Amino acid sequence: MKFFIDTANLAHIKEAQDLGVLDGVTTNPSLMAKEGISGKDNVLRHYKAICDLVDGDVSAEVIATDFEGMIREGEELAELDDKIVVKIPMIKEGIKALKYFSSRGIKTNCTLVFSAGQALLAAKAGATYVSPFIGRLDDISFDGMDLIDQIRVIYDNYEYDTQILAASVRHPIHIIKCAEIGADVMTGPLSAILALLKHPLTDSGLATFLADHAKSNQ
Ligand code: G3P
Repeated sequence: MKFFIDTANLAHIKEAQDLGVLDGVTTNPSLMAKEGISGKDNVLRHYKAICDLVDGDVSAEVIATDFEGMIREGEELAELDDKIVVKIPMIKEGIKALKYFSSRGIKTNCTLVFSAGQALLAAKAGATYVSPFIGRLDDISFDGMDLIDQIRVIYDNYEYDTQILAASVRHPIHIIKCAEIGADVMTGPLSAILALLKHPLTDSGLATFLADHAKSNQ
């Protein structure tokens, strides 16, 4: 399973990249705003800075919601760097935009996916990635993992190439469940990735090993 980090924070991206397990980055307009990035030139510069930091795909989201606007913005984003994946919302105009970009070999990520039907449409439109938001489904008492499961079955039934990018991942259990089901990619914050490291028996075991070594080497 590929690991993407879901942030526009350069320090977090660098820390995950330095760990050696990072396969890409996803961003969204809220994450860009959180870093205080505004204005078209600054936004494009920031995406370029992210591309320069990572080996892997970098999702950059369009703001337009009409077909022409999405194409204009998406082409401009795609020209920035080969790593750019144009992130398109799951709306009617977005489906047309996914089809347009896929027919031109431009990578896409269909975002804000909350149902299997939406995921099926995204695959038929040729999306490179589909992003079901599992954390936000959990927030409203729907099991986000059930959706990952459903999409996996549907994509496998018809051998769609679209990769399932489990998004809105909040904690390590989400990551482990995604891996069990067979999501192609998960994207989450640095905290969720680092939380995979943690086990109290690892900490206490290491403390004992080091203490025993120190005693026998006095
Ligand atoms: O990739 C989508 C993600 O950014 C949404 O995450 O935590 O805002 O639901 P969250």
